[in-house]
Amino acid sequence: MESMGGLKRSHHCNALTTADIGKEVILMGWVLRRRDHGGVIFIDLRDRWGLTQVVFNPEINPEVHAKAHGLRSEWVLAIRGKVEARPDGMVNPKLATGGIEIKVDELRILNQSKTPPFPLDEETEVSDNLRLKYRYIDLRRPAMAENLIMRHKASQAIRNYLNDENFLEIETPVLTRSTPEGARDYLVPSRVNHGKFFALPQSPQLFKQLLMVAGMDRYYQIVRCFRDEDLRADRQPEFTQVDMELSFIEEEDIFTIGEGVMQRLFKETLGLELSLPFPRMTYDQAIARYGNDKPDTRFGLELIDLTEDVRNCGFQVFRTVVEKGGMVKCINAKGCAHFSRKELDDLTGYVGNYGAKGLAWVKMKADGEWQSPIAKFFTDDERARMAATVDAATDDLLFFVADKPGVVHQALAELRLELGRRLGLMDKKTFNFLWVCDFPLLEYDHDEKRHMAVHHPFTAPNEEDVHLLDSEPGKIRSRAYDIVLNGTEIGGGSIRIHQKEMQEKVFAVLGISEEEVTDKFDFLVKALELGAPPHGGMAFGLDRLMMILMGRDSIRDVIAFPKTQKATCPLTDAPAPVARKQLTELALRPDWKE
Ligand code: AMO
Ligand code: AMP
Repeated sequence: MESMGGLKRSHHCNALTTADIGKEVILMGWVLRRRDHGGVIFIDLRDRWGLTQVVFNPEINPEVHAKAHGLRSEWVLAIRGKVEARPDGMVNPKLATGGIEIKVDELRILNQSKTPPFPLDEETEVSDNLRLKYRYIDLRRPAMAENLIMRHKASQAIRNYLNDENFLEIETPVLTRSTPEGARDYLVPSRVNHGKFFALPQSPQLFKQLLMVAGMDRYYQIVRCFRDEDLRADRQPEFTQVDMELSFIEEEDIFTIGEGVMQRLFKETLGLELSLPFPRMTYDQAIARYGNDKPDTRFGLELIDLTEDVRNCGFQVFRTVVEKGGMVKCINAKGCAHFSRKELDDLTGYVGNYGAKGLAWVKMKADGEWQSPIAKFFTDDERARMAATVDAATDDLLFFVADKPGVVHQALAELRLELGRRLGLMDKKTFNFLWVCDFPLLEYDHDEKRHMAVHHPFTAPNEEDVHLLDSEPGKIRSRAYDIVLNGTEIGGGSIRIHQKEMQEKVFAVLGISEEEVTDKFDFLVKALELGAPPHGGMAFGLDRLMMILMGRDSIRDVIAFPKTQKATCPLTDAPAPVARKQLTELALRPDWKE
């Protein structure tokens, strides 16, 4: 093996063009491919920036050529040579460096490599576990590197925008106490205070509010948050928020800032000009039209309410559901009457996963005729009325679910998304943002038999609804909002409670006892008594945002070192057992067994 000593890299591997012909250059990088063309050896030399073709010709330099014979994939090289035009017919217009090649005078092998655990081309399917175990190899793949490069650009765009808007970037503790986002905490035992634990923050929520009390006025942080939740494609145990808090503001101010951040970010990453302001929808509208609070507005297939049309109809299933206070809603899949019996059975099974007891369907034939297992239960008039309500035309396929509102909405929301996928309506190059506002302040938890905060307990109620606090707390709207991109919640926030009396009232409605308040949130309540300004904020989920921006299906692809679905790290084998001595120091029992 040789050293770099004396050689200094002159260019990266995507820099040289025909304008550089004749120059002597020094490149360093990895062997992507080696091709032996009857004596002449070609190497594609790769680095973060791209590829350059390097040529070893036995007639020009037999010694160097002989050395090049031994080169293998992923060896690390330094080469010195001359930039030359590629011969006619060998120009590759797809590569930035496709017009040139380097004729090598000096080759140094800086390091060898074993055969990599998987090929670096993007086509080879590699198991997720292997990719994570050798993440540094996976990240050499250009598409993966691109995710990190774009994430870097995104962070810079965000920082630049917020700096221009007079925000201060302030760090908050990672060793702290439990925060109230409602997931399970990651705990860290204290060695100095046996039996006591830090919690890793689920978000900097309380600290950023305290920074407003401290007069910082505008705070942001690109910050790691920790939540011990069941993992999915868009959830990691540690993830990154773009966290913000502002003083003396109302919802509109936060929407403006949030939109400004997105506009700058999309401009500086994808070069896209987003049009502002983003559309808005209330929570109630979102549920009514899309069945969930994060509508994917890239396509229609909206839910249509047929409850009134079927109230007294002949189909007993529908009638009974409505009599019991339930509802019947429909999705009109335009032009989908060609769906096969198998597809319909699949979809019925699919909505069954979300609690629907059935999925009635109707294929619209010519002259308004219904082809459907439920056609016979309705009169001509009833069929005509329902068809009119859902705007049914020949070749349409109608789907109905009858049940309690919660089940109807969830089942049809999922059916809608599944139809969107099957019909190819989710264009990854379209970016549809949406603010969802007027969330309910509280939701009733039937297991715990008490109201819970929908956002978190520091969210301010809508002033018009405050009088309902004692009588009908479930009906109070909050001043919380989410931002949704293509059906994914990419952020959320609220105007906070800044007066102690209101905070205590909300704690009381939430059934949080005075002792619990004193124990957990005393520092916040004290701060509210010491001149807290009106304030509010929001946080973007940076990983989710980057996933959508890069057209990926998992946030793991935009995180350098993510964890598996089981919250493990195959690269370092974390979490791992620790030495008995460490446990004893922490006063944890070393012999603990499940
Ligand atoms: P919230 O809990 O809604 O709000 O979180 C903000 C955003 O963070 C993202 N997110 C996640 N991303 C990846 N993996 C996870 N496990 C995960 N959990 C959440 C989502 C979400 O919209 N303190 C408040 C913000 C505020 O009120 O200002 C908060 O944490 O995109
Ligand atoms: P049944 O008479 O129970 O066989 O149901 C006739 C059709 O109505 C079948 O296609 C079922 O899938 C459908 N169906 C049954 N219950 C419901 C429901 N709650 N909502 C929508 N469709 C239903």
